[in-house]
Amino acid sequence: MFDSSFQKCLFLAFSLLCLTLADPSTAFSRRGSLSPPALPTPYDGPSPNITNLTAQFFHRHKSQRVAIKYGPFTTLPSTTNNGIDTYEVLNAPTPCTDCLVTYIAADLEHPDGTPANTDTGMWLNHAILYSTKEEGAVCPQYYPRRMFATGNERTPADISVNGTKHSGIYLPANVTFLLESELLNELPTERDVYLSITYEFIPSKPSSFKSLIPILLDITSPCNPSSTPTPTDSSTSFSITSIPWTANLSGEVVFTAGHLNDGGAVLQVLKKNESVCDSNATYAATSGFVSQAMNGVNGSTASQDLQHVSNMSTCAEIGHMRVGQAWSVRAEYDFSLHGGLVLGDGTREEVEGWAVLYVRQNEDDDDKLVS
Ligand SMILES: *[C@@H]1O[C@H](CO)[C@@H](O)[C@H](O)[C@H]1NC(C)=O
Ligand SMILES: *[C@@H]1O[C@H](CO)[C@@H](O)[C@H](O)[C@H]1NC(C)=O
Ligand SMILES: *[C@@H]1O[C@H](CO)[C@@H](O)[C@H](O)[C@H]1NC(C)=O
Ligand SMILES: *[C@@H]1O[C@H](CO)[C@@H](O)[C@H](O)[C@H]1NC(C)=O
Ligand SMILES: *[C@@H]1O[C@H](CO)[C@@H](O)[C@H](O)[C@H]1NC(C)=O
Ligand SMILES: *[C@@H]1O[C@H](CO)[C@@H](O)[C@H](O)[C@H]1NC(C)=O
Ligand SMILES: *[C@@H]1O[C@H](CO)[C@@H](O)[C@H](O)[C@H]1NC(C)=O
Ligand SMILES: *[C@@H]1O[C@H](CO)[C@@H](O)[C@H](O)[C@H]1NC(C)=O
Ligand SMILES: *[C@@H]1O[C@H](CO)[C@@H](O)[C@H](O)[C@H]1NC(C)=O
Repeated sequence: MFDSSFQKCLFLAFSLLCLTLADPSTAFSRRGSLSPPALPTPYDGPSPNITNLTAQFFHRHKSQRVAIKYGPFTTLPSTTNNGIDTYEVLNAPTPCTDCLVTYIAADLEHPDGTPANTDTGMWLNHAILYSTKEEGAVCPQYYPRRMFATGNERTPADISVNGTKHSGIYLPANVTFLLESELLNELPTERDVYLSITYEFIPSKPSSFKSLIPILLDITSPCNPSSTPTPTDSSTSFSITSIPWTANLSGEVVFTAGHLNDGGAVLQVLKKNESVCDSNATYAATSGFVSQAMNGVNGSTASQDLQHVSNMSTCAEIGHMRVGQAWSVRAEYDFSLHGGLVLGDGTREEVEGWAVLYVRQNEDDDDKLVS
């Protein structure tokens, strides 16, 4: 059942609900004058390069850290669909199998290995890693497990909390990944970029470790994207709260980080309608997140505000989730503090708001009580 609905999802015109996160504008035609983006381009290139790095945590368990370089992805010129396209790597290489992933972080690189970011006119709008043989906790009829998601801010998923929590995401022996990414190229020429994902893992599942279940909550979710009203340009400050998701598992929420687009201030994670994490946006903390004043240069995209979201603060150990509890996310935007990104055709980028919660699941059932 699960497989067939995901297939449906993949093949139904790349799809309204399925890739909500990928491109909300396709789903709800919220972007008005924008033409729909091109269909995703399945990646069929050479094998990626795997680099061995130095593991940081759990050395006793023979931990390893690797960076896998996915790509190259050839981005559209800014003159086509504002330089925005979606890329899918079906059967993307995994760092390990029958193993426990304890850290994930993504970054974008130019072919010469230098960082690709807004200062070079290249945005990692988002990247999502799906573990496709496992059900998603939220909206399983549309999503397989979304184990990692990032926006251009590239917040590392430090899901073992710097090695203090004996937990990780278990990848089964038959694991398969789907990597889905949306990139935005602000220059009027096609350019190749690589997505580099760093994973730390333990090549086994030690009995003292517990599994983390990733739960992606989105202001457009859980399943019904059209429930989110589109704020118009006239409102400089507004918030959007998701429909609550009712937890069907219990465990400690070990780590979470939010995502907002430019103009965002805070992404709150709400438990029973009260914030348990305020993930705050920082702008332009490093020079990579400051656009060059490329406005109009060689036909490149105009940016009204040259400063972009560079960091979202993270929360560790924010308490327990219990079966039956309502969890949601709330995004606060304030365009008077930071302007949203204005695309090449003059339209404003969509707002987004989501967070991935990593829940250290209780394997015993004795606290499956509604509280
Ligand atoms: C892998 O690395 C080699 C040598 O550094 C390079 O020539 C090749 O283009 C790389 N392939 C990919 C897919 O990055
Ligand atoms: C990376 O580490 C793995 C496991 O320790 C090893 O098998 C592999 O040869 C290493 N690769 C490189 C390029 O050093
Ligand atoms: C929660 O629901 C998801 C989706 O239906 C399912 O895959 C998962 O097994 C459920 N978890 C528990 C602990 O029942
Ligand atoms: C992570 O742990 C190491 C030592 O285990 C420590 O030096 C470092 O400061 C810690 N980092 C954070 C962010 O807590
Ligand atoms: C993957 O492997 C697990 C454990 O070996 C098994 O329970 C599961 O059914 C397999 N899933 C698929 C889709 O083959
Ligand atoms: C959640 O809290 C907000 C502000 O604290 C309040 O306006 C709203 O009515 C609450 N929603 C529910 C469903 O209780
Ligand atoms: C976000 O900012 C608020 C207000 O300054 C602060 O109370 C909160 O701790 C911050 N969140 C994080 C995760 O640092
Ligand atoms: C604009 O085009 C000129 C000539 O092709 C080139 O030298 C210059 O680097 C370009 N500027 C940018 C910002 O791409
Ligand atoms: C923001 O993230 C960058 C990496 O992208 C990091 O170098 C910097 O220390 C972070 N700054 C803050 C304020 O967290």
